[in-house]
Amino acid sequence: MAFTGLRSVVLCLGLLTLPALAADKSVTPYLSVVPEKPSLLQRLASVLRPKPVRAAEPAHKAAPRHVASVAKKSKAPPAAVATETPALSTTVGAAMTSPAQLSEADLAAKGLALFNDASLSGGSKASCATCHFSTGHTNNKTYVGLDVVADGDPNGRNTPTLWGVGERSVFGWQGQAATLEDSIRGIIVNRMKGPEPSKETLAALIAYVKTLNYPANWQVREDGTPREDASPAVKRGFELYVGDGGCGTCHQLPSFDKKSKDDIGTGGKFKVPTLHAAASTAPYFHDGRTASLRDAVKLMWEFYAKKMESRLPTEAELDDLTAYVGAL
Ligand code: HEC
Ligand code: HEC
Repeated sequence: MAFTGLRSVVLCLGLLTLPALAADKSVTPYLSVVPEKPSLLQRLASVLRPKPVRAAEPAHKAAPRHVASVAKKSKAPPAAVATETPALSTTVGAAMTSPAQLSEADLAAKGLALFNDASLSGGSKASCATCHFSTGHTNNKTYVGLDVVADGDPNGRNTPTLWGVGERSVFGWQGQAATLEDSIRGIIVNRMKGPEPSKETLAALIAYVKTLNYPANWQVREDGTPREDASPAVKRGFELYVGDGGCGTCHQLPSFDKKSKDDIGTGGKFKVPTLHAAASTAPYFHDGRTASLRDAVKLMWEFYAKKMESRLPTEAELDDLTAYVGAL
């Protein structure tokens, strides 16, 4: 695909893909402060604004922090056609800029267009946004290749959220990819059966997914401790998390993941996934074996108790621990 550094073209592509942002229904809770009708420029500005992977001190109230949050809801078709529009053909002469010359923001805007581009897959069957939506979150489905399978299918892999993906140390449920580039290339070639992606395509997709962040958190601080005004259940849940539940030994604060892989009795060794945004990533575990977060938390405590020969939780403790994990 032609690679152009012309900011205007990137802007056009960005604009054309914006309707696709609206397709995501899963993040409704985070869309609370959507302005009635943001101008195209406002929306675009939010796409282009570089964002730190994690804000130093998050806002006190849950507020949208990523591109999708300002997208207006509509029933627009997927924007996979963006690359076939006249916008591109009128600027062929400018298609010589190398990725090194593009700013991160321009690259990310280009990546957003590619994220919605079904031509990355064999037979144009799916774009990244089919499974991760344009917001990079999960569509809550479990797949073998491009086929949806029943949750709990041992060959199935549940779609992870890409929020915060820029700060993960390994990728894929088994930690099979060491870099974002390996991860995304593997998905395009193996899962999507698409043509070998160019370096430029990968660089743009990486720049885009790195802009995706978690929604602001009003109950839990950056270091994982509950805020003063967090609910009592969340505060009690935190004590169990770092105490008797043993969760903090693997899902370590403040990232809530760990570099190594563990066998927790789910059918092999899997990486310790982060628990950020877990409230909206159901179903849980690599194969989507539990539908509710409480069941996932229960399964984990039972595993830990068996391994350590320690005590099991009461029902009330399970509620509290689930409240804490659900607040992350
Ligand atoms: C058919 C659904 C589907 C499509 C299409 C898809 N993904 Fe994924 N994605 C998944 C699943 C499922 C996983 C987990 C795979 C695994 O662990 O084996 C995943 C994992 C990832 C990961 C690793 C995340 C982590 O925390 O480990 C990244 C990055 C990613 N996808 C980006 C992309 C990009 C970029 C595209 C488009 C080029 C894309 N995905 C297309 C379903 C999909
Ligand atoms: C020995 C390390 C270890 C301990 C201790 C541990 N976990 Fe896990 N946890 C894992 C691994 C590994 C997975 C992924 C397994 C899989 O996908 O099959 C996981 C998955 C999860 C998931 C599913 C995440 C998702 O995105 O699907 C939740 C929720 C979770 N753990 C919560 C907890 C809680 C709460 C505790 C404490 C009661 C805990 N874990 C203790 C290693 C651990």
